[in-house]
Order: sequence, then structure tokens, then C-alpha cells
Amino acid sequence: MKEVIRCEPPAPWLGGKSRLADRIVDLIEGIDHDLYLEPFTGMGGVFFRRRRSVKCEVINDFNGEVANLFRQLRRHHNVVLEEARFLLGSREEFERFKAQRPDLMTEIERAVRFLYLQHQAFGGKPSGQNFGVDRERGSRFSIEKIEINIERIRKRLSSVIIENLDFIEVIDRYDGGRALVYLDPPYYGGEGDYGKSLFSRSRFVDLAARLSRLAGTFILSINDVPAIREIFSDFAMLEVQTKYTIQGGEAKNVGELLISNSEGALVGAQKTLI
Ligand SMILES: C[S@@+](CC[C@H](N)C(=O)[O-])C[C@H]1O[C@@H](n2cnc3c(N)ncnc32)[C@H](O)[C@@H]1O
Repeated sequence: MKEVIRCEPPAPWLGGKSRLADRIVDLIEGIDHDLYLEPFTGMGGVFFRRRRSVKCEVINDFNGEVANLFRQLRRHHNVVLEEARFLLGSREEFERFKAQRPDLMTEIERAVRFLYLQHQAFGGKPSGQNFGVDRERGSRFSIEKIEINIERIRKRLSSVIIENLDFIEVIDRYDGGRALVYLDPPYYGGEGDYGKSLFSRSRFVDLAARLSRLAGTFILSINDVPAIREIFSDFAMLEVQTKYTIQGGEAKNVGELLISNSEGALVGAQKTLI
């Protein structure tokens, strides 16, 4: 493993793994692997917080705006920052961007639009967005606040493979003996949170079936509900307590499960998680 630059995610994201991230990173870095794959990367709450990693890393999300943002930050981060520099943190700007169709924009314009909307939207929601106001912080979008991190992200992504596939397809492509797959799918009960066409409840069963014939090792984090315990009952499970906050709201205690095809990995996790 080699040292990598630790960054913050480029933008807020609903379900972003900020609270559990460091503990999951410790767990992942303790597992021997030669390829790292995240099929549900979102804004990379775990991926960007790694301190050491392997040469071959693959990040994937079926949301095309996510993959485009990462590609543009890697190739043209200066142009993205320049385009975003003079944007106002105003409701009018927010509504103007929201009304635009990304398919009619250039890739750089799409990345700027996405970055701006994610910073301004309440709770980092990617769909059904509302203009978010935080009395303690003022405007949510400030280039000064994100510039240094974006430069770090550019370097961090320089040799990372960025995919935009359905999770089954990306697992099929990269699974192998020493692959480590970290999965953070939508919560059970929140399947439509990232857009109705991306995920549905029946896909948890597809995921469990695909994971049961995985050649590599996987770690899955998900909310602790009876249906999930039943669907993934063939695997080892560890209960963890974490807090869940939607920006500005009060933090709620919630139970999450870490699920794996390697009991040993979770035994190691117990030491770091409790
Ligand atoms: C819980 S979020 C991941 C959050 C991420 N760990 C973070 O810290 O930002 C789940 C992600 O799965 C993606 N997703 C939903 N359906 C998918 C599918 N069929 N294949 C791949 N990704 C999908 C969503 O776009 C979303 O980014």
C-alpha cells in the first residue's frame, strides 16, 4: 500500500459517510487487497478519507453527474474553479441552475452546476432539492472554502479509475481474488433518495446474490432493519451505533450494520469500532 492524499468530499451528499468514515477507513486499511472498488461512491465520504491505498482504485456511481464531476476535477479543476468563482450564494442563482438541463451543457458547465447545487441544497439532497439556509454559517457556497480541497482532490484522483455503471456491472468487471469491495448503497426505505431510476428495493436481493459469489472480500454498510438482516443472513454482521444528521437538524442515534463475507475482517473491526 502507498500513502495517498486525504481529502474532504467535494460537496455535501445525502447519506455521506462523515461520522463512520474514519472507523470504516481503519477497517479497510487493515484488510489485505490489491484492488479497491467502491460501487456506490457518491461524494466519496470513505474513499477520500483513506490515508493509504493500493495502486488500482475504482470509484463508481450510476449518477452521471457524480462521475462527470470527478472527471472534470481531475482534468480541468482550474477551469471549474474559475467558472464557479463569481457565482452568488443566492436563491435566484440556485433556481436558475436547477432549471437548466445538464444534457444541453458542456461537461465543465455540468460540473460547475452540480458542485454549486450540491453545496446550496438542503441536506446535500441530490434530487428534489431546496435552497438551504444555515443561520450559523451564512452562504453555503464559497470558493475560498473549497479551493484548497479541490486541488487535493485533483491530485488524489490522478490515477483513479472513474466508472459510471450499475453496481452489478462494475462488480462483474473488477471482482477478483484480492479485490476489496466497499459498498454503501442507499438505505433500506430510502431507495428512491438518489433518483427513482437508479435503485429499488428488489435490488438488495440482487446485491446479496451477487455478493454471495464474490471472489474478493466485501464490506457493506447499511441501516439496521429486519429486512436487511434477512436478505444478507448468509454473511457475517456487526452492529454499530452512529449519529445521522440532516444539515441544521438534530443528530439522531441510528443503528447501522457492517456486513462482510470475511468474519475475520469484522473481528478486526470490532477493535476499531467499539
Ligand atoms: C448512500 S449513497 C453513498 C454515499 C457515499 N458513501 C458518500 O460518502 O458520499 C448511495 C449512492 O449510490 C448511488 N447509486 C444508486 N443506485 C445505484 C446503482 N444502481 N448503481 C450504482 N450506484 C448507485 C447513488 O447515486 C448514491 O451516490
